[in-house]
Amino acid sequence: MKKYLVDDTAYFVNAKGSGPILIFAHGFPFDGRLFEPVIDKLAARFHCVVPDLRGFGKTPLGSNGHNSLGAPRVKMGRFADDLAILGSEIACERGNKGEKIFVCGLSMGGYILLELLRRRPQIIAGGIFCDSNASADPEEKAAGRNYLADTIDSFGVHTLADNMIPSLVSPKTTKDKPEIAALLSDIITSQSPEGVAAGSRGMAVRRNLVDLLPTVEAPILVLGGADDKLSSVESLDAIAEALPNGSRATIPDAGHVPPLENPDAFADAILEWHSRISQ
Ligand code: MLT
Repeated sequence: MKKYLVDDTAYFVNAKGSGPILIFAHGFPFDGRLFEPVIDKLAARFHCVVPDLRGFGKTPLGSNGHNSLGAPRVKMGRFADDLAILGSEIACERGNKGEKIFVCGLSMGGYILLELLRRRPQIIAGGIFCDSNASADPEEKAAGRNYLADTIDSFGVHTLADNMIPSLVSPKTTKDKPEIAALLSDIITSQSPEGVAAGSRGMAVRRNLVDLLPTVEAPILVLGGADDKLSSVESLDAIAEALPNGSRATIPDAGHVPPLENPDAFADAILEWHSRISQ
């Protein structure tokens, strides 16, 4: 892994391939390992950049990963700014200052992609919006996220993994690929309670960006697992329709984490879309 100084922290990043920059933003509470199975295939077309987001995996939370009272909190805009800094750093390193970036965001990563499109549309060449939504949390859900942040120290990440995993994978994954649930458990239980609290508080205060969708000019591929219990096929169809340059693909035999559950179909959907928008 390579280290990049981003704002007040050091982002740990895996990078592979040549072509336009494609940065991957993982979901909550995961890290860059979420995308590992799709990178080899996509590296033939893109320079794939897979960071652990601030507070997750190996990337420290940093002092800017806290609210004004000192509690861990990373807003989606902070993550978005981090990725913009990382993208421009990598573009400079490649001798291509000002290069636009592609961003693939899954679930929480999708919230981050929308924040990038709101704050810095000029740097986005295109986006892949996976298993996510554009709305703010209803009050009750936001309260649940704050409760999780306040109690994760005592409940621990093992309880979090046990609670989450059944809703993350498709029935076929559960039956045919038990190793995926085991990997998710490894990923979730390796996160720090502090990072989990920060992401959870950040998601609780995210904006409703439904009204942003019709203003997005960049081409966006909306992807989702056919059996995702957290982002329904219908809700993702509606997002693709609201985007002026939206495309849509559904990944069979996958729930909320298609890059792990059906990596070939996930990578093929991105390659097919990129060929189409590049013509
Ligand atoms: C994720 O995978 O990032 C989470 O499901 C996002 C969320 O809790 O809204």
